[in-house]
Amino acid sequence: MKLEAVQKTYKRYAPQYDLLFGAIFHPGRKAVIDDLECQPGEQVLEVGVGTGLSLPLYDKSVQVTGIDISEHMLEIARKRKARLKLDNVELHVMNAQETDFPDNHFDKVVAMYVASVVPDPVALVEEMRRICKPGGQLIFVNHFNSNNPVISRVERWLEPLANTLGFHPGFSMGEFLAQTGLKPEQVMPVNLFGYWQLLRAINDKPGVANTMPEDNIAVAV
Ligand SMILES: C[S@@+](CC[C@H](N)C(=O)[O-])C[C@H]1O[C@@H](n2cnc3c(N)ncnc32)[C@H](O)[C@@H]1O
Repeated sequence: MKLEAVQKTYKRYAPQYDLLFGAIFHPGRKAVIDDLECQPGEQVLEVGVGTGLSLPLYDKSVQVTGIDISEHMLEIARKRKARLKLDNVELHVMNAQETDFPDNHFDKVVAMYVASVVPDPVALVEEMRRICKPGGQLIFVNHFNSNNPVISRVERWLEPLANTLGFHPGFSMGEFLAQTGLKPEQVMPVNLFGYWQLLRAINDKPGVANTMPEDNIAVAV
């Protein structure tokens, strides 16, 4: 999926996005923000913030930056920020694969329902690592290709429709982790039927050890 295709698809989705994906994705957004355990004054970046449905869930003592490549999605987020007086939030149109932020800037970087949408998930994770502080947190919530062989086949069959759907239905967790080198210390099913997964990883940049031995990875079922 190319960047232009993402922008075209989310221009089409924007007016109905909250109705279509507000409630159904809400438990995952809430789980991510609870999991972040943000402290007052922390700097959090949300890549692919969309219409900003998650923004009111943050405590106002947390500084939240939201970026999105779709001007149309972000316009709705801007209205939400103004309506709810979210003075702790700033919003920018920006490509999450290549941002303007300096190295080691954010305490926590979050990608909710974005990894299977961006043209290059490896570039996304590399950029998230670069702008997150060493030892900071990288959190993802996403749909991944199902373990159920029948559902998995349907998802792979739908894969050619990715541009129309606005995401890759056959997005594989195994490939995502192998290609990005992410070693999540937490993997937890969220949303309806646990069909989406929350992944939390420490930003173990070179020189910063991931303190969690691989055997201890917590997998909630
Ligand atoms: C499925 S929506 C998720 C929106 C929001 N995070 C939520 O919880 O509803 C995916 C969002 O990612 C954005 N997006 C896709 N590729 C992007 C990129 N390269 N840079 C920034 N945003 C991107 C889309 O424009 C869209 O708003």
